[in-house]
Amino acid sequence: MGTLRVPRHALLAHKLTQLRRRDTPSAAFRRLLAEIGAILTVEALRDLPAMPVAIETPVAPMRAQALAGPEPCLVAVLRAGLGLLEGAQRILPEAPVGHLGLVRDEATLRPSEYVARLPPDLARRGALLLDPMLATGGSAAAAVARLKAAGAAAIRFACVVAAPEGAARLAAEHPDVPVLAAALDERLDERGYIVPGLGDAGDRCFGT
Ligand code: PRP
Ligand code: URA
Repeated sequence: MGTLRVPRHALLAHKLTQLRRRDTPSAAFRRLLAEIGAILTVEALRDLPAMPVAIETPVAPMRAQALAGPEPCLVAVLRAGLGLLEGAQRILPEAPVGHLGLVRDEATLRPSEYVARLPPDLARRGALLLDPMLATGGSAAAAVARLKAAGAAAIRFACVVAAPEGAARLAAEHPDVPVLAAALDERLDERGYIVPGLGDAGDRCFGT
């Protein structure tokens, strides 16, 4: 399926199982989302270029590896992307952070933007876009288009659960954007929810 990658990782699968459970309370849901955000960040950025550096350990000098360029910007799609952002920031504490507020109309399933605060150096750093749910793909496609309009060059998208419909749409509209998901689920239901999914990520995160 296009640019989608689903890593095989027992720990990621284990945490996702806990996240999916109907009876996982909001506080645990947020903690799990942050932990999954950290794992996804490491996976999504595995191809960042590295360069050799000379260092000294307490025992001996050595040639080690360091990032060749600046850390990419982290961009959270509000609201639920904030849960992933917390974990991503543990991995990249120096990365500039952007916020994109998008909400899906419950009837049309179309997203509308209510806030956009993006870092200035998207072109130089690239961006890792974070949103737990890729359902119809409308929100992700709009978010990527917004980042491109703001000048972002290399964009990566990380989500927790993807539906085949959303993955196909994102691959069709933005074939240049690699997509990482912890799971590819079966389908969307008639209300646009991912099946089996995990329910409404924003509501579960914030107890609304
Ligand atoms: C959810 C989710 C995605 C979007 C996915 O957000 O976090 O942003 O739906 O659906 P799509 O692929 O069909 O566009 P929602 O609009 O419910 O907002 P919220 O995070 O504030 O609850
Ligand atoms: N948004 C969610 O939060 N969950 C879904 O299943 C689909 C869209």
